[in-house]
Amino acid sequence: MDLFEKIKERAGPLGKYREQAHGYYLFPKLEGEISNKMFFQGKERLVWSLNSYLGLANHPEVKKADAAAAKKYGMAYPMGARMMSGQTKYHEQLERELAGFVKKEAAYLLNYGYQGMVSIIESLVDRHDVIVYDSEAHACIIDGMRLHFGKRFVYPHNDIENLEKELQRATKITDRTKGGILVITEGVYGMAGDLGKLKEIVALKKKYNFRLLVDDAHGFGTMGKTGAGTGEALGVQDDIDVYFATFAKAMAGIGGFVASDQHIINHLAYNMRSQIYAKSLPMPMVFGALKRLELLRTRPEFKNKLWKIVNALQKGLKDLGYSLGNTESPVTPVFIWGNLALATQITYDLRENYNIFCSIVIYPVVPKGVILLRLIPTAMHTLDDVAYTLNAFSDIKKKIEQGEYPDVLAKIPEYTDE
Ligand SMILES: Cc1ncc(COP(=O)(O)O)c(C=O)c1O
Repeated sequence: MDLFEKIKERAGPLGKYREQAHGYYLFPKLEGEISNKMFFQGKERLVWSLNSYLGLANHPEVKKADAAAAKKYGMAYPMGARMMSGQTKYHEQLERELAGFVKKEAAYLLNYGYQGMVSIIESLVDRHDVIVYDSEAHACIIDGMRLHFGKRFVYPHNDIENLEKELQRATKITDRTKGGILVITEGVYGMAGDLGKLKEIVALKKKYNFRLLVDDAHGFGTMGKTGAGTGEALGVQDDIDVYFATFAKAMAGIGGFVASDQHIINHLAYNMRSQIYAKSLPMPMVFGALKRLELLRTRPEFKNKLWKIVNALQKGLKDLGYSLGNTESPVTPVFIWGNLALATQITYDLRENYNIFCSIVIYPVVPKGVILLRLIPTAMHTLDDVAYTLNAFSDIKKKIEQGEYPDVLAKIPEYTDE
């Protein structure tokens, strides 16, 4: 069979919705300045869909730092991968500052969080080692594991009893192979906002010999007293052996970093294929990240404002009777029972009749029969935004209860931006 013909029949779990969803539910174009309000299809909407938790994406000091570095260096500099010709003292400075902030000996920059995580996992283990991971781990963790030649065991999300069973199985294997065990969890689970049970996982170290890798993409900058992440919030930062975060959320940038003991960072720098064989982060990203980190460290008002909005929004939604699952982070998932038709009807109603833009998550990301409206509060939002949104969600709830949404996919409004 012709490969291209075959691909027509095999669009993939999201690709199969392309025709009904493209440009509206999927691949929507948000335009105008990044803010609490942006333009979608020519109309201003209140946006709850941007991971700029601390509101840094559009902060004047951040934009100035990005622009100054772009003016001085352009996007080309440095030319090459870190190992060959892409090293600068500013990359090293950023690494030192990040390591200090998350209280680890050393850090290494990653030119995208995703690729970085894939290579961290691949570099830490060999075929004698066993990986034990949470069933809701992010795609980048799953992809990293696909490169692992040894055994891997999954435990149901945050189920510590099962994790212990998997650790027993893993230990039997590593006793034989003389390998080690790597446990992988997230700090904040990005879809549902609940926290990885880091304390309970760390407590298992007393009984089992393993190292802990934590993906704290959504916790870095938002959790903990100083913003150093979920480990800080739960008092176990020292027991996280390898700490990972991305710049794509609270830092509103591109790239990420991994932090650990010096000899582990040395090992990663010399072994992570996605970094060795790829170009180094360009200077605007590095100077931009230095500025973002400075703001994150020295201006607690951003995090305080974020949490003021988070608390108001989450309390209001719960008071309306919505289920927010087990979120303990800014990620605000509104769980609704229903099918794809209902999901599109609600999203359409929110966008077209209330000018509220939030993301919609459906199976296979969440179980069948569940719709997740995912709201991301930020320091850019106001309490008025919260009040307005709660009113809309109150209406929506009544409409769901009274069966007012037709059981068909909502049509995408005609719109052209030409
Ligand atoms: C939990 C988690 N890990 C890793 C990543 C990947 O980070 P990046 O966007 O820097 O590639 C993301 C972000 O999308 C994430 O949510």
